[in-house]
Amino acid sequence: MAANIIDGKAFAAKVRAKIATNVSTLKMEHGVVPGLAVVLVGEDPASQVYVRSKGKQTIEVGMNSVEHKLHENTSEDILLALIDDLNKDDAVHGILVQLPLPKQLNEALVINRIAPEKDVDGFHIANVGLLGTGQKSMVPCTPLGCLLMLRDYHGTLSGKSAVVVGRSNIVGKPMAQLLLNDSCTVTIAHSRTKELQEVVKQADIVVAAVGRPEMLTGEWIKPGATVIDVGINRVDAADGKTKLVGDVDYESCAKVAGAITPVPGGVGPMTIACLLANTVTACCRINNIPEFEGFSS
Ligand code: GUN
Repeated sequence: MAANIIDGKAFAAKVRAKIATNVSTLKMEHGVVPGLAVVLVGEDPASQVYVRSKGKQTIEVGMNSVEHKLHENTSEDILLALIDDLNKDDAVHGILVQLPLPKQLNEALVINRIAPEKDVDGFHIANVGLLGTGQKSMVPCTPLGCLLMLRDYHGTLSGKSAVVVGRSNIVGKPMAQLLLNDSCTVTIAHSRTKELQEVVKQADIVVAAVGRPEMLTGEWIKPGATVIDVGINRVDAADGKTKLVGDVDYESCAKVAGAITPVPGGVGPMTIACLLANTVTACCRINNIPEFEGFSS
């Protein structure tokens, strides 16, 4: 039987509609407007597209959006001084420094300069530690989006076996932590894992975040499993154009899985929706306002 399609685009639209309602409530009942500052250093075309999309969606849900575009050759001192200013700015509740940064800038130093309560990416070492110990933290947007989709589809995740393929700080590791916090039995696998296919085949939930186009095929998947594809790979298509594919071979996996996210239209749209949700959460926490339900880990 063909797998159910987990429609991330539709789910993200629902999440954004709820966020817009929450933003109205914050304005009317508390007199605050959540604000997101995005910092882009340099001219990377993909980063420019992401930053534009973030700004547009921030405005669409009624929040304030500030963009700081800095020259490719910006010094660390200048960038850190900007972050210090944003940390102090009461109108800014979320700060995102778009990665990757140009080579002269130390990514860890820059990220750890962001006030942890405004770190809507959840990359600050304090937030990583809080998440790792099951405490309230800011949670990285892509894994949070995957978690919300999984919870929406399954209800509880408790007791399920989950395999996360990929061990990045941005997706794989926090994803594993989130699934563990939801009482899954979690394995982190990666490109060096022995018998990788067999490991993946044990899982009720597979999250693919390895960055290799269409690596997981139908034979890797336990019949009925839920497959979440975090990959976004641009590959050459038969017609000479390029197309987007995930880390999962959709055609073969959809024949075996119980549910699957498509690429595009799966995890991708949830990432920015969760960035907006994190900004609202940060605004509530900073202003001692009770948080809205449904958007945290
Ligand atoms: N570059 C690619 N993905 C991300 C992300 O989630 N956050 C930031 N800050 N930069 C990115």
